[in-house]
Amino acid sequence: MKLLFINGVNLNMTGRREPSVYGTRTLDDINAAIAAHFRGDECLFYQSNMEGEICSRLHAAADEGVDGIILNAGAFTHYSYAIRDAIASIKIPVVEVHMSNVHAREEFRHTSVISAVCKGAVIGFGEKSYILAGESFKS
Ligand code: DQA
Repeated sequence: MKLLFINGVNLNMTGRREPSVYGTRTLDDINAAIAAHFRGDECLFYQSNMEGEICSRLHAAADEGVDGIILNAGAFTHYSYAIRDAIASIKIPVVEVHMSNVHAREEFRHTSVISAVCKGAVIGFGEKSYILAGESFKS
């Protein structure tokens, strides 16, 4: 199975940014743990702080035989209609992920403009959220 893990804006700062919320492990640490967990599968990793680049990465996945996309869009989640439309434009199922429980945080984080076009969401389990979301693609 080919799984694509996409992280959006500010997720490159994981481990250094708000450690009380996102922990002290870096995105590289987290991606290494994901790759180890899914060692029988092909895992692709992508991070960008640019909204349009994330849209382009979603489009490109359609030509790469990707079976499932795990997307933590970061703050883009709450307002990016462009990413929402990019998800809707591809046939590959996308699972929305958040490390923190966005519903227990500030009001603006309670809205996701991408949830409606995602297969489901995994929210609030720290780095384990990515693994639970990836597992959702396995039979
Ligand atoms: C986040 C939650 C978002 O509200 C925030 O903007 C992030 C990270 C999470 O993983 O908990 O950057 O997506």
